[in-house]
Amino acid sequence: MEKITRTRVADVLKSEAYGSKVNVKGWVRTRRGSKQVSFIALNDGSTIHNLQIVVDIEKFDEEMLKQATTGACISVNGTLVESVGQKQKVELHAVEMEVLGGADPAVYPLQKKGHTLEFLREIAHLRPRTNTFGAVFRIRHNMAIAIHKFFHERGFYYFHTPIITASDCEGAGQMFQVTTMNLYNLKKDADGSIIYDDDFFGKQASLTVSGQLEGELAATALGAIYTFGPTFRAENSNTPRHLAEFWMIEPEVAFNEITENMDLAEEFIKYCVQWALDNCRDDVQFLNDMFDKELIARLEGVLKEPFVRLSYTEGVKILEEAVAKGHQFEYPVYWGADLASEHERYLVENHFGRPVILTDYPKEIKAFYMKLNGDGKTVRAMDVLFPKIGEIIGGSEREADYNKLLRRIEELHIPMKDMWWYLDTRRFGSCPHSGFGLGFERLLLFVTGMSNIRDVIPFPRTPKNAEF
Ligand code: 4AD
Ligand code: MG
Repeated sequence: MEKITRTRVADVLKSEAYGSKVNVKGWVRTRRGSKQVSFIALNDGSTIHNLQIVVDIEKFDEEMLKQATTGACISVNGTLVESVGQKQKVELHAVEMEVLGGADPAVYPLQKKGHTLEFLREIAHLRPRTNTFGAVFRIRHNMAIAIHKFFHERGFYYFHTPIITASDCEGAGQMFQVTTMNLYNLKKDADGSIIYDDDFFGKQASLTVSGQLEGELAATALGAIYTFGPTFRAENSNTPRHLAEFWMIEPEVAFNEITENMDLAEEFIKYCVQWALDNCRDDVQFLNDMFDKELIARLEGVLKEPFVRLSYTEGVKILEEAVAKGHQFEYPVYWGADLASEHERYLVENHFGRPVILTDYPKEIKAFYMKLNGDGKTVRAMDVLFPKIGEIIGGSEREADYNKLLRRIEELHIPMKDMWWYLDTRRFGSCPHSGFGLGFERLLLFVTGMSNIRDVIPFPRTPKNAEF
């Protein structure tokens, strides 16, 4: 074959250089035709759209053409031709063609269209080759770029916090332990407690649940930072919104109080949604048409109006009134209860019809680091609640007062030996500061309209599942 530099399908489809010779490489999606001519729909991942390759059968080797079945990888040199009556305005008339890798039709699992998402999860190693997952993963990439751009443009520094840590940021005891000890022969003291002296780090270590605590160290030095990395939670919740390994974005800003924190969260999330509409239009349109006819309307909807800002206490009041009027929730709702996703979604979808930022939660249901309000009962927490998702962001203004923070740490019996460095931020040059965490996959659920979080991360980790 003549050596021609490859052009991506996305670029070929935009080209108007009719008559020019190009090379494309990609995977055969479908092939149809007659004895004389074959039409190959070729996709190379650069766009949701396929390029139509027109093959005049008698000009090609029969054995080679036999190999060019669905799933096969081919390289084609051809002439760009304006196509009439097609969805795309160009097609490629093949001149030379080579099969780089065949895909035996007897065993290739992605033969026909219309596989269920459940089935595709079982072949997660191949599902990026489908239209749906191509769209989802292109959007995933684009959102990551949008996030870095948003913060970079606003003077935030991307700060890398450790993945292995000895402190439990959320204090929820949901950490995966990291050890090199021989689990069959553990050294224990007289009480039967494990002695970690000989473990790799000389103490108990785990995968991080959040980069926030180290993020606060950075914010009280660099001013404004964000993290964007993997976080791990050994919570045994098999729901469409929980992963054991997920990615989180955590901005932390010195001098920001809770209101500025809310402003930042709202601006940030709207920026991301706008980015998806502006930069991933074809993929979002595809997902809208295939899975969720309301998707684009929902995305445009959150951009239009300011988010509702409401205290937890007022939110609970609305939910209690709903119950009084006969609305049935699975879980009970009362002041002091941790809200379930059904409660959050009631506020957003049924009551207000737009995103809600709920603030000032009871201190008992929130983490130790949140700033205590004057009432002594509530903390300056904020959760951003979204349609279809429930909680998409969790954050707070942080307790900046050394003594108050110390008291909370003692009340909750958090081991001081793990926390001395964190407390130093309050001992030396303490200042008001705030931050939040956005679950990257929750954002993707919203932007793609997919309904299961396992379908917006390439290789989901959930209870009893770590395949691939
Ligand atoms: O509300 P969370 O637990 O807050 C924190 O971790 C804080 N340290 C954040 C901060 O203030 N810097 O988690 C933050 C967000 C949630 O709102 C949710 O979007 C997501 O992380 N999240 C999960 N996403 C997928 N699977 C899970 N198991 C998740 N747990 C939390
Ligand atoms: Mg939370």
